[in-house]
Amino acid sequence: MPVDHFAGAVAARYDDDSAEMSDPAVVGPAVDLLAELAGDRSALELGIGTGRIALPLQARGVRVHGIDLSPDMVARLRAKPGGEQIPVTVGDFACTSVGRTFGLVYLVFNTIMNLTTQNEQVACFQNAARHLAPGGRFVVEVGVPDLQRLPPGETVRPFTVSATRLGLDEYDVATQRLTSHHYAVEAGRVSARSIPFRYVWPAELDLMARLAGMVPVSRWAGWDRRPFTGDSRTHVSVWQRPA
Ligand SMILES: C[S@@+](CC[C@H](N)C(=O)[O-])C[C@H]1O[C@@H](n2cnc3c(N)ncnc32)[C@H](O)[C@@H]1O
Repeated sequence: MPVDHFAGAVAARYDDDSAEMSDPAVVGPAVDLLAELAGDRSALELGIGTGRIALPLQARGVRVHGIDLSPDMVARLRAKPGGEQIPVTVGDFACTSVGRTFGLVYLVFNTIMNLTTQNEQVACFQNAARHLAPGGRFVVEVGVPDLQRLPPGETVRPFTVSATRLGLDEYDVATQRLTSHHYAVEAGRVSARSIPFRYVWPAELDLMARLAGMVPVSRWAGWDRRPFTGDSRTHVSVWQRPA
């Protein structure tokens, strides 16, 4: 099983730290699109976490199942109203089977990048495809690698700078590794943690989908379905298992 980077204090702080991403203005369009894609079929969330998306999606009438490797994140989901109604399989979403198929499998908030090798990301697409009923859709929300915004010759880019928080992304173009360094000041003490990722380009994801027997359906710059262009910083991509 991969390392659980969300254990303990990270899980305890997750909802506060990602409050912006839990804003109804962010969650609403995501849930609208996912509910539309699921239709009357059920959905599987890979990396369900504390239920930021799964809970409102289930409240919209879509039956949701989750996979997550972090027992502490799943405990936070369980403690929320409606959380007990969402079955979660604890395991690695690159290879864990829940033993049934769905109309929709989705993986949001850059979580594909938590798989730090190409092999694991390819395996994840294959696992997603195995969980799709014929005609079912796989949705990934992930950032576009920010390499063109790095100052010339530099490998580090800040993503959060405030009086109490500093976040730095460190890129290694030779390995496609990205390490996010988080520094926080709390009660006069500085804490630091670094999380490893593998950044991945949209075209590489299309190839992974093709290897898994899926075909491209849509690519937008966000959940509001605005067009994906050369300036887009994120994308929401949809592939389909042929009917
Ligand atoms: C950034 S959080 C996203 C949680 C939730 N999807 C959301 O949008 O708020 C990533 C989640 O994926 C889980 N995760 C990361 N790598 C995983 C893996 N290989 N298998 C299963 N879960 C994983 C983490 O434990 C964490 O709960």
